[in-house]
Amino acid sequence: MIAFYMNIKTKQRFFPFKKKLSIKTTIVCVLMIISSSSFAQKLIRIETKDNLLLLGVDTNAILKQLYFGRIINDIGGFATSLEKSAEAYSTYGNDVEHTALRVTHSDGNLTTDLMFVSSNTTKQDDNISVTKIILKDKYYPDEVTLFYKTYFEQDIIEQWMTFSHKEKSPVTLYNFASASLNFQSPAYYLDYFYGDWANEFNLIETKLSEGTKTIDSKLGVRTDQRSNQSFLLSLNGKLQEDDGKVIAGTLAWPGNWQLQFNEDHYNNLYVTAGMNPFASEYILKADTTFTAPGFLFTYSDKGAGETTRNFHRWARKYGIADGYGERDVLLNNWEATYFDFDEEKLSSIIKQAGEMGFELFLLDDGWFANKYPRNDDHAGLGDWEVNHKKLPHGLSYLADICKQNNLKFGIWVEPEMVNPKSELYEKHSDWVITAAHRDLNLSRNQLILDITNPKVQDYVYDVLDKLMSENKGISYIKWDCNRYITNAGSFYLGNQQSKLFIDYPTALLNIIQRFRKKYPDVYMMVCSGGGGRMDYATMPYFQEYWPSDNTDALDRIKIQWGLEYFYPAVGLAAHVTPNHSDERITPLKFRFDVAMTGRLGLDYRVDKLNADEKTFAINAIATYKKIRNVVFYGDLYRLLSPYENNRAALMYVSENKDSALVFSFLQKKETYPDNSKLLLKGLDANAQYKLTEINKGSFSRLNDYEGKTFSGAFLMNVGLQFDMYNDYESAVIQLVKQQ
Ligand code: GLA
Repeated sequence: MIAFYMNIKTKQRFFPFKKKLSIKTTIVCVLMIISSSSFAQKLIRIETKDNLLLLGVDTNAILKQLYFGRIINDIGGFATSLEKSAEAYSTYGNDVEHTALRVTHSDGNLTTDLMFVSSNTTKQDDNISVTKIILKDKYYPDEVTLFYKTYFEQDIIEQWMTFSHKEKSPVTLYNFASASLNFQSPAYYLDYFYGDWANEFNLIETKLSEGTKTIDSKLGVRTDQRSNQSFLLSLNGKLQEDDGKVIAGTLAWPGNWQLQFNEDHYNNLYVTAGMNPFASEYILKADTTFTAPGFLFTYSDKGAGETTRNFHRWARKYGIADGYGERDVLLNNWEATYFDFDEEKLSSIIKQAGEMGFELFLLDDGWFANKYPRNDDHAGLGDWEVNHKKLPHGLSYLADICKQNNLKFGIWVEPEMVNPKSELYEKHSDWVITAAHRDLNLSRNQLILDITNPKVQDYVYDVLDKLMSENKGISYIKWDCNRYITNAGSFYLGNQQSKLFIDYPTALLNIIQRFRKKYPDVYMMVCSGGGGRMDYATMPYFQEYWPSDNTDALDRIKIQWGLEYFYPAVGLAAHVTPNHSDERITPLKFRFDVAMTGRLGLDYRVDKLNADEKTFAINAIATYKKIRNVVFYGDLYRLLSPYENNRAALMYVSENKDSALVFSFLQKKETYPDNSKLLLKGLDANAQYKLTEINKGSFSRLNDYEGKTFSGAFLMNVGLQFDMYNDYESAVIQLVKQQ
């Protein structure tokens, strides 16, 4: 007892703060320390169907992470390693290298020291449970709660934290990770995604070494333009598709994010995932709660393939709007007309679209603004009234034309943005994000509206509300976002500028939620000049995502390959276009086949297609409608990676294994044909499958197999052997289980 007292006293003596500890606080501290030293060890199981995250509380009441891997029932042995295991959520103080939480307390103290208080698990339904672990600082009245939400069947864990305090004056949060995990392996390989506009989702692998590897975004909005907040960590060698221990994780947050991988001298790896602390210190008043976003993760000892299928199955149920709902084949006018359209041109396109079997027409950018008409990307953003010259009868009239042609009607918006050349900017120049005393920094000739300001939030909501309520017949919205933040600054936030990067995405999610509440049935596509906003905080409100403005089918193979590690095909908008991205000319069949691996659409002047092209497109659309459910709701199996092979191949297998689709693409001509056997995956070994090539072009390489029946075991062990020779050759194979 005396020893503890002296501890406190010593601590007090060295503290550089003027304020002395009150007697009451001293007694509380002494009691807490006494109780902490005699704490009985406790184990906490966070469990899914196949995996176990095991936490423990040591005799000093410190929460530790003991294990993350396949389920182990007998956990008695962990008692031996509990005391020396790493903290489950590290705070700056005792720990200095891989800080999940760093708080400057109201008296200036830089450190935090958390003690376990309690834990409980509640079941939300048959699949979902939430374990809540409360930790308290040993001295300050600060509380951290860790949440672990388990999705049992899908083997996904979602972790986040909340911080609240009762200190007399505000504290400042400098680091606020959602989760920290640690691993002990001989080597670590990290796979993540990098690129830029029109070249998103390139898969990169790096072997981690001692020190810290950070992947992050500081773009403020559209924060996935260069990288995505998702990663795969392979614990025993390079990442493999069907073998090896892999952790796959992604942060559900549309703002600045940070993933850190810190390897120490003893081969321990500490992973922290959360909102990016960069320029984001957050001043928090007493009795308010700071909530970090969810970090979703899974584990497999069977390679990356299983982690993807876990994420896709989870996403279809929880992570994307209507994940098991329908998706329409849509015609978009963007690469077809750009800004150059009027009622007559659109009516002609819509009429043709109806005849060809499309189900939805999406009117893209350029339909709005009158004083400064939106005839190119220099003007009009912010003025969301229909342009009377282009569309004299308004949007509902177009929606009616669509209806007459059996099409739904969709519309493009970019509600967070404004062109300086707009009536909105003339009225509210103080509504934009820009730093004081700096020149306006335009990108795509536009600025970002400061939605941290509640008035601007209301404005953005009202724009969408008005659009929907005044224009009957809109069934679909493409929500775009075409620039990121530079010269960060908010007139509204005054002297708390560093709140911008957290308050902006929070406000964005609020607007989206508010809109969704009033309009739950409208379909929405999240777009951000391509895949700049793809995360699982946003996606539950959107049915679809636009992965890239690059619509070159060859490039799309890799882009779609990358994003499908985490994001499912049911939302993957993939369009056949004239390919203005790089003007590469590829066969129409190849472009359709690539687009059919996701939600098929077209950006085409369909009224200008020649007879052969039109016939091919009509047949392809009809074929796609018959097979799309396997793409949307099937499990993805990657067969040959386009990163490692000239031939790329993937397949979707329906969850009950009744049917499958195999897609095979040759990226460039080969002198000698690729004659390798394509070993299929995921089928029922004992079932018989009938093989048919679909969406055929002018020739087939599969004549030997056509119409025949093979066992799943044969297809997976012997495989299919068919040559592919030419630039951009492709084949789509359907397998249907025979009863
Ligand atoms: C972004 C989108 C495109 C298109 C244009 C319109 O670039 O990614 O699909 O909607 O905006 O300006």
